[in-house]
Formats: sequence, structure tokens, C-alpha cells
Amino acid sequence: MSLEEIREAYAECAPWMERLDWLDRRLTGRYRRELFGDASGQVLDVACGTGVNFPYLPSDVEVVGIDISPEMLARAQDRLEGLAVDGTVRRMDAQNLAFDDDSFDTVISSLSTCTFPEPVAALEEMDRVCKPGGQILLFEHGRSDVGPLARFQDWYADAHYATAGCRWNQEPLELVLQSGLSIREAETRALGIVTLVDARPSQESVVDTVRARLSSPEG
Ligand SMILES: C[S@@+](CC[C@H](N)C(=O)[O-])C[C@H]1O[C@@H](n2cnc3c(N)ncnc32)[C@H](O)[C@@H]1O
Repeated sequence: MSLEEIREAYAECAPWMERLDWLDRRLTGRYRRELFGDASGQVLDVACGTGVNFPYLPSDVEVVGIDISPEMLARAQDRLEGLAVDGTVRRMDAQNLAFDDDSFDTVISSLSTCTFPEPVAALEEMDRVCKPGGQILLFEHGRSDVGPLARFQDWYADAHYATAGCRWNQEPLELVLQSGLSIREAETRALGIVTLVDARPSQESVVDTVRARLSSPEG
């Protein structure tokens, strides 16, 4: 799908995603809390949708949510108004972020790479705008580890993409590896469908980070 087709698809999704917010909290809230609960400083939420991650951020961060869909962003803006966290939303293509290099302390994104026409380009943009020493936290979904489920996902993948604009049998970790991000920790859950990634910018050696921690007086 082109970017315009994806934008149109999500314009239709926005009202029902808002109505099903309670279900999303039940199904995915624990992952969002676990991964984004320690975000710090200036936070960028890439493809923020209806702002579903915002309530899981610490109240002292400043968040910028970007998305290609004005309908999603209108709901994200409404959500921000009811929260303690400071923030703004902007319409933007994740594959071409209008921010300077090294702008954010934490870059987060959830359930997004499956929809980007060029997911590796979007991950490279997250890398570019993340400050040295910052973190890139991803909550993604993909192909199950369980054979029959994975085969069903493969069988239905084209139809699912045509209706939902979502590549549900992708391998999120392969995309992250292709983007060059330094993976600090990665884990799959929920029959392998959920992938949680804690990464650092590509220029950073994770080994150096570990050494620095071992030698720091704070431990
Ligand atoms: C499945 S929704 C996920 C929304 C939210 N992050 C969540 O966790 O519920 C995918 C989002 O990606 C957005 N999107 C798709 N392609 C995009 C792009 N190239 N740039 C910015 N946003 C994009 C859609 O508008 C939609 O809001």
C-alpha cells in the first residue's frame, strides 16, 4: 500500500480503535507499561495512533507523538489533554522525520513497523533522531513461534494486508537488525507474536555500555 492508502485505512480505523481502547489496555497494557514506563526526558512516539502509549509514560517526560493520520492524531491530542504528561502531536511520515539529528532522549514505537511501507527506513530515522546515550524502545508484533499459528498467519497474510495494511507475519527483529540499531535486550512473548526490543543508537556499542556500568562507582 502507498502512504496515502495507509492514511486512508487508518482514518477509518480511528473511531473503532478509540472505542476499543479498553480492550487494547487489557491485551497490551502490560507490555506498554513494562517497556515505556522508564522512558525519560524528551520522548518521541513514532506512529502514536490514538496516543495509546501516553498514559504509560512517566509524568515528568515531554512527549511528541507523530502519525500520518490526522484522525488518529485528533484522538491523541484529546488524550493528552486528560493526562499529566506534557506533549504535542504532529502529522509526519515516520520514514522522513522532520527533526534534527540527536533530538530525543527516548524514541518509542508500538505496533507500527508492520504498517510502514519501508519499515527499515523508519527505524533508521528513529536511530538518527535519538541522542547518543538515548534509548529506542519497540513493542511490535509478528509471526508466531507456534507452527500452526504461524502457518495460518502466512496463509492469510496477503488478505490481511489488503484489508488492514498490516504485515502480520513479519519478523520484527530481522527489521531491527537490518536497521543497524544496537539491540540491548529483545524478547518475544505471547506465542512469539509479541516482540519487545530495548535498543540503543547504531553507533553505540552495547558492550561499551555494559563496561561503563560495571566500572561506575554507582554500580
Ligand atoms: C496499528 S496502528 C498503531 C498505533 C499505536 N502506536 C498503537 O500502539 O496502538 C499503526 C499506526 O501507524 C500509523 N502510520 C502508518 N504508516 C505511517 C507512516 N509512514 N508515518 C507515520 N505514521 C504511520 C497509522 O496511521 C497508525 O496510527
